[in-house]
Amino acid sequence: MDQIEGVFNGSFELVENIKISPFSRAYTFSDSIYEVVPFFNSKAIAFDMHIKRLLRSSNELSIALDIEQVSKEITQLISSCSSENGYVYYQVTRGQDIIRTHMYSKLMDIETFGYVLPFSFKTKTLKVMICEDIRWGRCDIKSTSLLGNVMQMNSAQKQDCDEVIMHKENILTEAGASNLFFVKNGTVCTPGLSKNILPGITRALLIKEIKKMNIPLIEGNFDLTDLSNASSAWLSSSTKGLAPITEIVNLENILDTQEPIYLKCKEAFDYKFFS
Ligand code: PDD
Repeated sequence: MDQIEGVFNGSFELVENIKISPFSRAYTFSDSIYEVVPFFNSKAIAFDMHIKRLLRSSNELSIALDIEQVSKEITQLISSCSSENGYVYYQVTRGQDIIRTHMYSKLMDIETFGYVLPFSFKTKTLKVMICEDIRWGRCDIKSTSLLGNVMQMNSAQKQDCDEVIMHKENILTEAGASNLFFVKNGTVCTPGLSKNILPGITRALLIKEIKKMNIPLIEGNFDLTDLSNASSAWLSSSTKGLAPITEIVNLENILDTQEPIYLKCKEAFDYKFFS
């Protein structure tokens, strides 16, 4: 891969030149939060919403963050990108321990790390697998503690799948790296926000568009039977946009990627953010 532009603790440099201590709590405890900020035509999509969510995540973990500085660094990374379309990954870590210890010192200096990558937001169709949601109880915090997601997505990869749809005791939560939407009986359904799902920015942007179009929408509790009765389903994220699901390998149902309500959502979303 080409050299990647990055920023570490406020200094801009190529990622390959950044050095991180093995006592960084990102490394020992996954004591970090992050954001993925997409940009199109050199303009960040929903910049303020991403910044607000990062601030919320940092408040939840009591990590003191200079959000003005973070905003400037993300903006500068976007301008330094060789492509007009891409995304910034930005991570904030509590800091470095002198020696590894669960209880952190209040005197720690936070560590920030970001990089920018060109990315083309092409629509990709997805084959997915249903699996149990084995993650921790605060998935609403965008933390780098993603081992549950990693384990489930890699077992899905063995089934030749691109993503997973997770459920907790039969109640649908979200996908491994995206939120879930489906159409059932002419209504768009999506799991309601809770501590078990990430409040996706793409999810929020899409919901706004759906409401503008007066398409019926329910944010609530849905189970696997609801999903088997869906006529179309898709996942949403900052890098996927809206990605239609063609097949769920371990659930009986028939999904149509040309289903009219899905197409309306997709068209409205792409027109608003990718044109
Ligand atoms: N993932 N749910 C999970 C578990 C996610 O990791 C993501 C995003 C989303 C969608 O959030 P948003 O619409 O704000 O991108 C939902 C990012 C892209 C990632 O980890 O790469």
